[in-house]
Amino acid sequence: MEKKKRILTGIRPTGPLHLGHYTGALENWVRLQDEYDCFFLIADYQALTDHIDDIDRIRSAVIEVTLDWLAVGLDPGRSAFVVQSHVPEFAELTMLLSMITPLAYLQRNPTLKAEMDRIEATELSVGFYTYPVSQIADILLPKADLVPVGDDQLPHIELTREIARRFNRTYGQVFPEPEALVGRVPRLVGTDGQAKMSKSLDNCIYLGDSAETVEQRVAGMYTDPTRLRSTDPGHVEGNPVFMYLDVFNPDAAEVEELKDRYRAGRVGDVEVKQRLARVLNDFMEPMRQRRRHYEQRMDEVKEALQEGTQRVKEVAAATMDEVRSAMRIDSYTQSVPASEPSEQASLSRDEALARLAAAKLEPYWNVDEAGGPVLFRAARGAKGRPPEQKDRAWRSELIEALELMSEANVAAVRREVRRRVARSP
Ligand code: TRP
Repeated sequence: MEKKKRILTGIRPTGPLHLGHYTGALENWVRLQDEYDCFFLIADYQALTDHIDDIDRIRSAVIEVTLDWLAVGLDPGRSAFVVQSHVPEFAELTMLLSMITPLAYLQRNPTLKAEMDRIEATELSVGFYTYPVSQIADILLPKADLVPVGDDQLPHIELTREIARRFNRTYGQVFPEPEALVGRVPRLVGTDGQAKMSKSLDNCIYLGDSAETVEQRVAGMYTDPTRLRSTDPGHVEGNPVFMYLDVFNPDAAEVEELKDRYRAGRVGDVEVKQRLARVLNDFMEPMRQRRRHYEQRMDEVKEALQEGTQRVKEVAAATMDEVRSAMRIDSYTQSVPASEPSEQASLSRDEALARLAAAKLEPYWNVDEAGGPVLFRAARGAKGRPPEQKDRAWRSELIEALELMSEANVAAVRREVRRRVARSP
C-alpha cells in the first residue's frame, strides 16, 4: 500500500469558530481525512504572540476549538489533534529555521503587515513579528504535503515553500514543498455584509450557536438597503442573505426561485430570512448533536488531544534527528563521515570548483533547473575577455549557480567535471 500523503494545518485558539472557518477551511479538513494522514494543530504558541495578557482566553479556547472540530466531524480516530506547546520540537525547529529565514521575507509578508497595522506599536512583540517562522516549523516538522487553509494564510504557505527549498538546497533534501488548498468559499461575508466574519465586528454565526441564536442573528442580517417594502424589486447581488443561501442551501433550484421572486418584489425579507435560518439550522443540527455527545464525555476530548499530540511527537523526533544531522549540529565530538548526505552537496561543490580551476574548464555543460541559466549567463559574460579575467568572472557566478542547483544537478555536474578532468591533458 502506498504511504498516505500528509496534511498539517491549524488554528490559533483565541475563541470559538464560525461559519467562515467552516467554508474557508474546515470543510476541506473533514473531507480529506481519509485520503491524507492528517495533523490538526491547536496553535497555542501562536495565540500567545498576540494574547499574552489573556491566557485564560487561550485556555478556554483550546477546549472550545477542540469541541468545534469534533462537532464538524474531525475524527480523532483517524486524525491527530495536536497541542503545539506540548511538543518542544515545534519551538526547536522554529529557532533553527529563523536562522535561514531572511528578515526581508517577513517584512514583505502581506498578511503579517495587515495584522501588524491593527496592533499598537507598543504592544507588538518580537514573538508576533516572527510567528510566520513558527508556522513554517509547524508545517515542516511533520513534513506536510498539503496545507488546507483560509486564503489569508497563503503568504505563509508560500514562505514555507521558499524556506523548505532553501533548507534542502543548503543542507540536502529533507522537506517536501507543501501545497496550499483554499476552501470552497475563501471569504464568507459577515452578517452585516462586511468583507468577512470577525469576532471583533460581532458579525459571526458561530458553529456552536443554538437554533434560536441562529434565528436571531439571521433576522438581524443586513440585506438590500435600497429596498423599503417587500413589494420593491430587490437586489440579490452583494446581499449576504442570498450569499449564504448560495453557500448553504443544497437545493439550488429553490434558491433561484427565491432570487427571482426577490428581484420581482414578490417575497419579503422576513420570509427569505426564515428560509435561510432553517437552512442553516438543518446544516448545523448534526454538529450540535456531535457537540452534545462530546460535551458529556470531556475525558474523550482530553484523550483526543493527548493521543494526537503523542502521535506527532514520534514524527517530530524523527524529523529533528534528520535536521540536526543535515545541519551537522548533531555531534561535535565525532568526526562526521564525508559520505553523510549533509556533506555531499558542499563537498561536491568544493571539489567541482577545485577541479574546474585546475582544468580551466568552460562551464558549458548542460544543467537544467535554476543553475543552468546562471551558468550560461556567466559563460556569456566571460566571452571575449582575457583568460585571467574570464576565469574570475565566471567562477564567482559558478558558485552561485552551484548553490542554486538541486542535489541531482550537483551530482550531474560532478560527473561532468570528472569526465572532463579525465580527458584534459
Ligand atoms: N495562522 C493560523 C491562523 O491564524 C494558525 C496556524 C498555526 C496554522 N500554524 C499553522 C495554519 C500551520 C496552517 C498551518 O489560524
